[in-house]
Amino acid sequence: MLTGKAMGFWGLLSVVLLVQDAAGSVVPQARSSIVGGKDAPEGSWPWIAYLIITEDKGTFSCGGSILTEEWVLTAAHCVDPNNNPIPDLSYVRLGIHSLNKPSVFRRPISRIVSHPQYKKQRSELLHDIALVKLSIKVSFSSLVEPMSLPKPSDAFGPKSECWIAGWGNVGNDVELSGNRTLQELRLPIVKRRTCKEKFPGFTDNMMCAGSLDGGKDSCQGDSGGPLVCRSSGEFVQAGIVSFGHSKGCGVEGFPGVYTRVVRYLDFIQETITSDTQASAEA
Ligand code: ARG
Repeated sequence: MLTGKAMGFWGLLSVVLLVQDAAGSVVPQARSSIVGGKDAPEGSWPWIAYLIITEDKGTFSCGGSILTEEWVLTAAHCVDPNNNPIPDLSYVRLGIHSLNKPSVFRRPISRIVSHPQYKKQRSELLHDIALVKLSIKVSFSSLVEPMSLPKPSDAFGPKSECWIAGWGNVGNDVELSGNRTLQELRLPIVKRRTCKEKFPGFTDNMMCAGSLDGGKDSCQGDSGGPLVCRSSGEFVQAGIVSFGHSKGCGVEGFPGVYTRVVRYLDFIQETITSDTQASAEA
């Protein structure tokens, strides 16, 4: 898996990251990841999914979140109809912590439903949301749980406690390595007015989050994964990792952009219920 070059890089970095603690002894620092995150404790993200998508052009990975025993929410650009994703050759892993270890479930995808108005427009993605259906239902446990959706009245702002997680790049063009353990990062929601100034095509269906000082961001491979925020005690899914500044991840002054899930509650509900009715009639 690791190329010689990547090994050399991390070897070097782990030397650099040996720092002295207060007592004066040398302790290794957790490697910084997502961009600026750390290893998530095992079982702390039971709703996260890892998607392997195969298209005509090749195979790549994305994040997602579990909504029901057979539906996973992700970004439409992960399963872009224009790139001809092949459901039979694509699959979802659930109940995973380190990518190098077995997951609780691995399911082929049987259906992909992208938002009908999903579109790439210049450097922005509109209606970047999709649902994928698993070929066989899964059962829930402490390691595999459904994610709660926000209430229509939920509003998330700079004071909300929000987190992202994923197995994406830990820096521009730097892949997650080692055991490839899920990375998590707490990050602030950025004021909508600021987001509009940063991204000219920013719409009411988007939200943005991250550090304006740079260094705290989602990155390539995290797409489709959940941005979760606390709403009256419980974590709900506020956003979906969508896109960022064209210069890369964790760029100073540029937060990441997320699909604003609360605007798509009807799309999600209708997709899932119409499918259930169709299968009941079949
Ligand atoms: N589009 C990327 C993906 O496909 C996610 C980019 C998020 N970028 C950012 N700077 N927040 O994985």
